[in-house]
Amino acid sequence: MEIHFAPLQGYTDSVFRKLHAEIFGGIDKYYTPFIRVERGDFRKKDMRELPDETECNTIPQIIASTKPEDIEKMISMLEEKGYKEVNINMGCPFPMIAKHGMGSGLLADKEAVKAMIKVLEAHPSMRFSLKTRLGYDDENQIFEMMDIINDFPFTEVTMHPRIAKDQYSGEINHAKFAEFAKVCKHPLIYNGDVTTTDDINKISTVYPTLKGIMIGRGLLMNPALASEHKNGETMPDKEKRDKSKQLIKKLFAHCEELMNGEEQSVAHVKAYFEYLLPDIEKRNRKKVLKANKAEKLRAAIAEFFI
Ligand SMILES: Cc1cc2nc3c(=O)[nH]c(=O)nc-3n(C[C@H](O)[C@H](O)[C@H](O)COP(=O)(O)O)c2cc1C
Repeated sequence: MEIHFAPLQGYTDSVFRKLHAEIFGGIDKYYTPFIRVERGDFRKKDMRELPDETECNTIPQIIASTKPEDIEKMISMLEEKGYKEVNINMGCPFPMIAKHGMGSGLLADKEAVKAMIKVLEAHPSMRFSLKTRLGYDDENQIFEMMDIINDFPFTEVTMHPRIAKDQYSGEINHAKFAEFAKVCKHPLIYNGDVTTTDDINKISTVYPTLKGIMIGRGLLMNPALASEHKNGETMPDKEKRDKSKQLIKKLFAHCEELMNGEEQSVAHVKAYFEYLLPDIEKRNRKKVLKANKAEKLRAAIAEFFI
């Protein structure tokens, strides 16, 4: 069973992916957060986060769009840069994205999906995988476009079994995932609410034909989750804290060197503490999240990992 680290805008940037692979490992595939076209051009930040040759098995992700010209622009750019595989995000539920005909916004529009696939077909030397969900406003929408999804040679399909309105919370729709697993002809990856090795084992047992499981927030909470699964044993708490500390320290140093000012790097580093090691005392987490200067944050982080 492969374990993929889900793309998480604001978290799984290039430096984090490299540090995670080096310090914790256990991941078969990483993804970049989605690349998009904004006012006809690429965002500098997205370009900075593209994987380089030192990153193993990291797939660039683009956001699906009702504008074929934007899809073409993103794929051509990636192809020119030498990437061989692209992941298509047809599941992002955020209203600012979906309402503008991107991400999950395509799930109610079969013609837009057809137009997008036409663009993919024009790049026969590239491989494409798909990350999607059940629908935009109806849990059956994905089934209405199964013919076109099955007809295109996607290398794999990752399914998050919710609709856009649910974003990333509420009950996971297992009945619909099981139905999807039956009709999807591509290798299938499960995604959603996996936070423990028990969850990984349960999902593998319930859906034995899966190629893999993609994990997002569960890996932000426990960065050792994938390696614990691979090694078949839980990492001792002390080791987990020490390794997390090492990762955060290096990440912070990197941010201070490369980001525009203290405010930005403090905000970026703090974001990881929204999830990291949920069993750590609330009081210590609050201190980290309240720190508004680099020195204060450093002190609060030292206490957090004691
Ligand atoms: C803050 C945040 C940012 C995300 N950014 C992306 C993204 O750039 N691309 C994407 O495909 N999914 C994105 N997602 C969705 C995750 O990849 C994943 O599908 C979702 O978190 C559910 O998996 P989990 O329950 O294992 O976290 C994001 C989710 C969150 C919470």
